[in-house]
Amino acid sequence: MPPRTSFATFLCSLAALSAGFAPRAGAQSQPLEVMPAPAEVRVTGGRLPVAGRLEVSARAAGAADARLDAAVARAAGRWQARLGQPGGSPVLVSIECNSPGAAVPSLLEDESYSLEVGASRVVLRAPTVLGAMHGLETLLQLPQRDRDGWFLPLASIRDAPRFPWRGLLIDVSRRWKPQEVILRNLDAMAVVKLNVLHLHLTDDQGFRIESTTHPELQAKGSDGAFFTQAQMRSIIAYAAARGIRVVPEFDIPGHATSWVVSHPELASQPGPYGIERQWGIFNPVLDPTNEATYALLGDFLGEMATLFPDTFVHIGGDENNGVQWSANPAIQAFIRERGLGDNAGLHTYFNGRVEATLARGGKRIVGWDEILHPGLPASSVIDSWRGSEALASAAEQGYDGILANGYYVDLMHPAAEHYLADPVPAGSALTQAQARHVLGGEAAMWGEWVGPETIDSRIWPRTAAIAERLWSPQGVRDAADMYRRLWIVSARLDEAGALHLRNRDLMLRHLVGENLQIPGIGALRTFISLIEPVKGYRRGELQVWQNQLVPLVGIADAAQPESEAARRFSESVDRALFGAGAVDRAAAAALAARLAEWQAAGEEVAGSLCPAYPALREALPGAQGLALACKAGSQALRCVEAGTPIDAGALADCQAALAQAALPNGSATELAVMGPVRLVVAAASLQADRPRLSDADWRARVAAAAAATAPSH
Ligand code: ACM
Repeated sequence: MPPRTSFATFLCSLAALSAGFAPRAGAQSQPLEVMPAPAEVRVTGGRLPVAGRLEVSARAAGAADARLDAAVARAAGRWQARLGQPGGSPVLVSIECNSPGAAVPSLLEDESYSLEVGASRVVLRAPTVLGAMHGLETLLQLPQRDRDGWFLPLASIRDAPRFPWRGLLIDVSRRWKPQEVILRNLDAMAVVKLNVLHLHLTDDQGFRIESTTHPELQAKGSDGAFFTQAQMRSIIAYAAARGIRVVPEFDIPGHATSWVVSHPELASQPGPYGIERQWGIFNPVLDPTNEATYALLGDFLGEMATLFPDTFVHIGGDENNGVQWSANPAIQAFIRERGLGDNAGLHTYFNGRVEATLARGGKRIVGWDEILHPGLPASSVIDSWRGSEALASAAEQGYDGILANGYYVDLMHPAAEHYLADPVPAGSALTQAQARHVLGGEAAMWGEWVGPETIDSRIWPRTAAIAERLWSPQGVRDAADMYRRLWIVSARLDEAGALHLRNRDLMLRHLVGENLQIPGIGALRTFISLIEPVKGYRRGELQVWQNQLVPLVGIADAAQPESEAARRFSESVDRALFGAGAVDRAAAAALAARLAEWQAAGEEVAGSLCPAYPALREALPGAQGLALACKAGSQALRCVEAGTPIDAGALADCQAALAQAALPNGSATELAVMGPVRLVVAAASLQADRPRLSDADWRARVAAAAAATAPSH
């Protein structure tokens, strides 16, 4: 990685400026609601009331700058929509920007800024327009509200990213996502200072970019769903205007079915081939021994090198299973004659040819960690999807790398899990020089189970937690505080254009038809708010239909990846059961009321709605399960409230109900409240032991008893 001269210089000046800034202890909560948390914040006390629009005077190195002016206009519009009051006095902001920066952002551009919120005005300073745009996003997250109305806390902020590569992968191949989906997600990326859009453009299931040299590629490989080059240019310009680079991925030599639909002669076994509709790892792989493969790639990649201004081109390289190569005697003979050793050696040979082609156009290759073999050109970048060890190994060997493992948002895991995955964890064995090869990371929104209507809710708000991991200092790791801010930034993301909140009603309409006034709609909303799609890759095992052509309009699509209601309930259960000293009986009573309400919702959905609406039939086991689990939880809570152990018969009934509620169901969803309800039942069963256990032992006993009743999947 080249030295980061301007960035390093700025950090030095930050260090000098920051005398008097309290160093932030990692586990402390952030004083503001901003996400990602800035590198340094000093809240100076006092407030600047917000009573009107933003009035911004912006200067980029003394000259007008169209990109900055456009960013200011967007910011002022969002501010006005949220905070505008007719006639109120404006909030004065002056922006001092030392240089316009490159119109097309690049990897090591200085992104730093400082923000001074004073009693009469705000001053935003940045070395480049990129930093000024980040500062504007921070400013938009600063307003807070209390009884006296909106205000800005007076504060000094010094900010710069921890990592220069903070990406989001969007897979448009497996399921098509048109241009408007990409544009609105670019707006959301800018809110949380993500700066790389990685577009996964080709895979077995679709060839999604127009080639003018080989139009047969998209003509036969895409069902007509692809970005034209004009559309792609406008996506790139839209991204650049928001400080975001666009890195295209053409996944080769495996994951290549959509290439060989039009060019079966370039596959490693005879065709014919059709676009793959299913999910998985497939055999079609380009033939690296055929010069015609390189002729086509030369044309295509040359064209793409011009279309995409970024230095980096991702060539995929993952999950090449070698089946077609092993079964082809000519290919095996080639491996022997060239002394390539085996299929892995052939893959490295292929990468070398592709790298040389791209290097002639001034590009560096990025590839998934499978491309890391001896002989890989030193300028290559490793995108590590299989683990942080692969990333560390690449860095030790002198390769730049980014981390995707831990950031797969398609797995439907909670934000906290992604949040704690770190490209360079504390205690990493990498030297400082090696660690500098770790450029950052990327959230990965793989496309099997997301369509244009649901993709926003699978990316946001959880990806904001990943954005914080990649931007904020390593010590910012308090998951509870992250969640406090996540729900606030979620509304800001929606305000900027993401549809993760607004599309919830759209998904409900798919279930019950157009009319959201039907009796029981409140119960349905409650039920949907308490379920999550199954985790990992289990959805494909549970649903009868799993391919590209099936619409994503079911219960699992209406459910959110992480139930906010369940998470809050879980926190309340924790406080009620494990507060210092004794069980909090008032809190337990409040929880019992909540469970009673959810039980009623489950019964109403199961009894009234599932029989009436065909699309809700698959919800029946889940709704019945919710009612059963909540009933068991209420019963257990009454014992906890009274401090008396639940009797053996009632305990057995509760546990049977929980086991029933946890069974896999055809809607491929799970009840998000099972964990805390299991804790409550376990606590009820252990009441007799509570008085003689320490708080720590009590928590451990209850957790162990609850875990013992959880299913193993
Ligand atoms: C991958 O998930 N196969 C990169």
